[in-house]
Amino acid sequence: MRQDAPPDLLADPVVAALARAEETAWFRAEPARTGVVLAGSGLDPAIVEAARARFRRFAPWFAERFADTGPTHGILESPLQGAPRMQAALGRRLGRGLPGRLWIKRDDALPVSGSIKARGGIHEVLELAERLAVVAGVLRPGDDARALTTPAARGVLARHGIAVGSTGNLGLSIGIAASELGLATTVHMSHDARAWKKELLRARGVEVIEHSGDFSAAVAAGRAEAAADPSVHFVDDEASLSLFAGYAVAGARLAAQLRALECDVDADHPLFVHLPCGVGGGPGGVAYGLKLVFGDDVHCVFAEPTHAPCMSLGVRTGLHDRISVADIGLDGRTAADGLAVGRPSRLVGERVGGLIDGFATVSDERLKALVALLHAEEGIAVEPSATAGFPGPWRVLADAGYRAAFGLDDARMARANHVVWSTGGSMVPAAERGAYLAEGRQLLDAIDWA
Ligand SMILES: Cc1ncc(COP(=O)(O)O)c(C=O)c1O
Repeated sequence: MRQDAPPDLLADPVVAALARAEETAWFRAEPARTGVVLAGSGLDPAIVEAARARFRRFAPWFAERFADTGPTHGILESPLQGAPRMQAALGRRLGRGLPGRLWIKRDDALPVSGSIKARGGIHEVLELAERLAVVAGVLRPGDDARALTTPAARGVLARHGIAVGSTGNLGLSIGIAASELGLATTVHMSHDARAWKKELLRARGVEVIEHSGDFSAAVAAGRAEAAADPSVHFVDDEASLSLFAGYAVAGARLAAQLRALECDVDADHPLFVHLPCGVGGGPGGVAYGLKLVFGDDVHCVFAEPTHAPCMSLGVRTGLHDRISVADIGLDGRTAADGLAVGRPSRLVGERVGGLIDGFATVSDERLKALVALLHAEEGIAVEPSATAGFPGPWRVLADAGYRAAFGLDDARMARANHVVWSTGGSMVPAAERGAYLAEGRQLLDAIDWA
């Protein structure tokens, strides 16, 4: 542990297990009252409805510009898909059948840029573009966003820039949307970012700056660039409300999908949502959106790699962004490159950390093996970050104390729905996807699943 970390942290068995990079899970000792946490968050739920309305205003623009949004008429949404074969296969490997139903939220196949990060990243680009155009008088508030394609509007946007630091997927979504609108775009990539993401962005005219440091260093570089140039807007993945609002739109959308599939959500039909977590903005925003809709009846569990459990560490210690995984001796390196973050979001930890019901960490070997299992059982090919949520339902089952404290008896668990939030995959080049699958298949029968 580093000198500046409080010396007694390792007395907590959870922190000690995190420091040993062990797979671990912990849940709140008692339910947090959702209404109380929401009221104390200082966040206005109206930002979520405003984001939803913004996505609607841009739907015709997306439908014209991105062919893969045609089937949803320009609305960026992913399917919710049952995963009965994965549920059965995991039950066999983990030695316990899962009561209730397992679903996958297919953000790996989200249009335009297939990852959960695109929900927030694209929203912030749209908000910036609208604001710049309204201020310049080339768009009226509430106008159809196709007005941004006029030469006058494009001229305004071309005089402004946007910068972001990213492990890959946030930069990808921002670069794709911003370059399409004609904003000058710079993406600072951490050493974790995959080469194909940088190449794709450069092909679209985005400036990609590679850093040898981690995610926090890439964010700091983006912040510094924007501070030096007033025409550049900085997207702050550690604290942005616009990103947060974009993620949170998923709450009402998922509720509609569950209703369409005749899935009740109430005290007797609990909903568990297992979210992959890097800096925490994506899962934090989605959890906020879900709690707005379902209150205490939805249970949000964050999933992190064993080498980068920053949100678990920040919330558990109450130190939030004042502690990094390096402070407990972890290297932050993981095959789940999107989740390779050492220091958590202050916005999420401090304001809505109370909405997170549980935290689970997953080893890289398990993430990779799950990539192969998911492909074999459901025919879905994803990147390792996207499988982080799969062990979560079994972690819930195994924690009798948590279930008792939250009234999750056997009858309720039998009626539960578990949604594993998938995040990246559809854009992964075929060769890389093949390599993920080959490695995962080798691990399938080699790892200790129990
Ligand atoms: C594919 C993927 N999934 C999930 C996440 C987690 O989101 P966040 O970093 O906001 O917690 C990331 C982060 O970059 C990601 O790239």
